[in-house]
Amino acid sequence: MAKDVYAHHRPQWKTHIGFVLAAIGSAIGLGNIWRFPYLCYKNGGGAFLIPYFVALFAVGIPLMILEIGLGHKMRGSAPASFASISKKWEWLGWWQVIFVMFGIVLYYSVVIAWCLNFFFYSFNLSWTNDPNNFFFNEFLMVSKGPFDIGDLRTPIIFSLMAVWFLNWIIVFRGVQKGLERANKIFMPLLFILTAFIVLWSLGLPGAKQGILIYLKPDFSRLKDVRVWIDAFSQIFFTLSLGFGIMIAYASYLPKKSPIVRDAFTISVFNCMFSLFAGLGVFSVLGYMAHSTSKEFSEVVSQSIGLAFVAYPKAISMLPVFSRGFGLMFFGILVIAGLSSAISILEAFTSAIIDKFHYSRKMIVSSLSVAGFLGSIIFATRAGLHWLDIVDHFLTQYGLILTAILECVALGWIYKASKLREHINHVSKWNLRRWNWDVSVKFITPSALIAILVYSLIGEFTKPYGGYPWISIIIIGRDWLIYTLFSAVIVASHPWKVEPGSRVFEHESL
Ligand code: ALA
Repeated sequence: MAKDVYAHHRPQWKTHIGFVLAAIGSAIGLGNIWRFPYLCYKNGGGAFLIPYFVALFAVGIPLMILEIGLGHKMRGSAPASFASISKKWEWLGWWQVIFVMFGIVLYYSVVIAWCLNFFFYSFNLSWTNDPNNFFFNEFLMVSKGPFDIGDLRTPIIFSLMAVWFLNWIIVFRGVQKGLERANKIFMPLLFILTAFIVLWSLGLPGAKQGILIYLKPDFSRLKDVRVWIDAFSQIFFTLSLGFGIMIAYASYLPKKSPIVRDAFTISVFNCMFSLFAGLGVFSVLGYMAHSTSKEFSEVVSQSIGLAFVAYPKAISMLPVFSRGFGLMFFGILVIAGLSSAISILEAFTSAIIDKFHYSRKMIVSSLSVAGFLGSIIFATRAGLHWLDIVDHFLTQYGLILTAILECVALGWIYKASKLREHINHVSKWNLRRWNWDVSVKFITPSALIAILVYSLIGEFTKPYGGYPWISIIIIGRDWLIYTLFSAVIVASHPWKVEPGSRVFEHESL
């Protein structure tokens, strides 16, 4: 029997598919639609799929199993789960949820807000003939540098309010009525809209050339370590690993749960979605190259520019249906972004509920206001610089570092074999010592340490993105350090109910 007195109050997914959709919703986000296709193009086209799938199978899926297994076994948010292993590790769970809540989701919500603005701009294709000028100079009004803050961008602030309102209303309503219900609407809608625009784009003149360029392998690029780093960091970001989300989501599962099958389904589905969405993106860019008779490299642009400059330009040039296409494309981005943003808010909310037992409504309301206020810096004229620096540090260092520590805490301290036994006990697909334990204890941490060291060396050679060192230190490095301090402080507070008392014992199954 479960010993915890309030265990039966823990919310649970109403249906199993509800959990799977919510986890897929968290994984599929802005990163799949604009980041993946560009990374693929930049890093050797089809050849990038090799490091990408190596990262997925060597690191992504084992860690997905680890996070789902951990949350399920300990029935707690990230901090509660790590505290159940050892109180000494609680800070790690807090660090994850704090830098994600007070870092990633702050700028992530601003990018969703841009998508919302562009959704409305699609009605009259406001970016006209010069989307580059429109995006950087008229819409963002990008300032000269990170400390040249400038004014707030009013259109962004309004859509940001809408984004935080939606985040709030969904998470406020709880696991079943909020997250599960929203994802049951969002996900089918996302799949239908995406399938529609991808299939439609495939029929455009020039689409075939676009796709050939997207997928044509250039194996020589595989010699570049940067390509491998990009693949591994993309896998982390895209699968929402190291965010504390999958741990919290799995804590709402019932005792008998197909953990291994779910981890495969969520991870593989997410990556297939990226590949599929890329077909649509590159067909449209191929069409643009074809109709302007330009080289493909001239029409494609860097990550953010791909969605907000190159793509809008291509949309305006479509022979028919351009407004509808714009509405659908930006609508897809808003849905994909929201289903990820709410998962971040939930990961933090469930952590506070576990430790302090405050009411969900109160926590979510305060967090949404704090989140909105925290996002404002990214909605100023310096917002793009801040976003770039914070994103770089939190994803390249925060996520990778916490994942390495996760492997140490689970693989070595708690013991991978103990968690494997639990997972095998509850799920039909069984893990083996030689594949899973070896991956969690050796392969994953070694690959991640190599990436971390290599990135750090690059960091000291020249300042990231050509920004002044001072901004790199204050905005990037210190953001990580402050969140770490806050995590240690919160972890030192006593628990109302001991976190280890809620774990699933085998005999109770
Ligand atoms: N997994 C989410 C994304 O790819 C955060 O955008």
